[in-house]
Amino acid sequence: MRNIDTVWKPEYSVGVEEIDAQHRYLFELWLMLDSIRDQEENRRSRRQVILSLLDYVDLHFSTEEGYYRDHPRYAEHRALHRAFVDRIRAFEQEMEEDRLNLQAMADFLRDWLIDHIVNTDIRYFNDMKEIRAGSRS
Ligand SMILES: [Fe+2]
Repeated sequence: MRNIDTVWKPEYSVGVEEIDAQHRYLFELWLMLDSIRDQEENRRSRRQVILSLLDYVDLHFSTEEGYYRDHPRYAEHRALHRAFVDRIRAFEQEMEEDRLNLQAMADFLRDWLIDHIVNTDIRYFNDMKEIRAGSRS
């Protein structure tokens, strides 16, 4: 059985425990989605997971954005978060209209998380270390 420890890899770490813990929780939500994908009858749980996801990304993005508010490309990163929220809202809409492909949503979530953490978050967190080190000298 897959669990968070088989999914989370050390190379996903941004170097800040609070953010890593939140990212791990997002992977847990992905695992939940993935595990209920075959239970077409299980409407209540898919609804709960999708609403929890929307709630949690809201909290997570505002926490994360707080760490690199001084980054010169802050707005760009924020726009990526917004686009992600829009996509999840679109999935939510599809769910309400009873035409959601849960597998497609689960795959999108996993791919986005990995790509975004590895290619964007880690870069921003590293940049911030340099920016802070530079401002101290
Ligand atoms: Fe991010």
